[in-house]
Amino acid sequence: MTAAGTFGYGTEYSHLFDIQKLGAIVCKGTTLEPRDGNPQPRLVETASGLLNSIGLQNIGVKALIKEKAPIWANWRVPVMVNIAGETVDDYAQLAKELDGVAGISGIEVNISCPNIKAGGAEFGVNPESAARVTAAVKSATSLPILVKLTPNTGDIVGVAAAVAEAGADAISLINTVKGMAIDIATRQPLLGNRTGGLSGPAIKPIALSMVYEVAGAVEVPIVGCGGITTGNDAIEFIMAGASAVQVGTASFANPRAPLDVLEGIEQFMQKEGIKDIAELIGAARR
Ligand code: SIN
Repeated sequence: MTAAGTFGYGTEYSHLFDIQKLGAIVCKGTTLEPRDGNPQPRLVETASGLLNSIGLQNIGVKALIKEKAPIWANWRVPVMVNIAGETVDDYAQLAKELDGVAGISGIEVNISCPNIKAGGAEFGVNPESAARVTAAVKSATSLPILVKLTPNTGDIVGVAAAVAEAGADAISLINTVKGMAIDIATRQPLLGNRTGGLSGPAIKPIALSMVYEVAGAVEVPIVGCGGITTGNDAIEFIMAGASAVQVGTASFANPRAPLDVLEGIEQFMQKEGIKDIAELIGAARR
């Protein structure tokens, strides 16, 4: 899968490679109303990573349903919509609006964005609020729901168990790790929003250990995410217990990265004589 916020609405990449070969596309975080996002600068490159503080800039759910879903309805690749809100009701309303719309195959519930003043990661840091959002979305839609977790909590296993119990069909982790960078010439934070979320290879070991821990605690499928750049990275996440992976920041340096990762997984399986990826899921746990 592509990771939300790194692959636009998929349309931006469709002329660059055959995106229909991917497992799924997860589109940019979507809110009830359109958002302009946070003040610039919103991206800073760091050692082996990328800090972002986009602030959920997006076109809003109504425009997404009118302008993007009809395009997706003609695609073979399933598209999931990442949703974010400031209140539990926002999430439920988003889920209701997306339910039954042709071209939308699932919902990723974003309780992990660190760049907004209200909502987002606020809901993902403790099990009770994470479960409330999950249950509200679940009862508002018949679409499968994937809940995306934040690493910026002291209790990722507790949050994962709570959202699984509340009806998540699958869990994706991790979203970005809160971070910042300072310009020593101006003595000011480099990001307009002061702090942001770190992604890319720098966070891969953190993501991997969280996937490993969560896989030991829940029965629902896990989608691993965080710094995956190659097929071998993806295999590590699968061996830690993920059933699928998302490729995010790597797409900024190499737009074909999601397909390269998929082909890398296939090459590894061929080399090892593995017929079914299920043989590898959780291999490092046994
Ligand atoms: C953003 O738009 O600020 C990033 C989205 C996210 O971290 O979920």
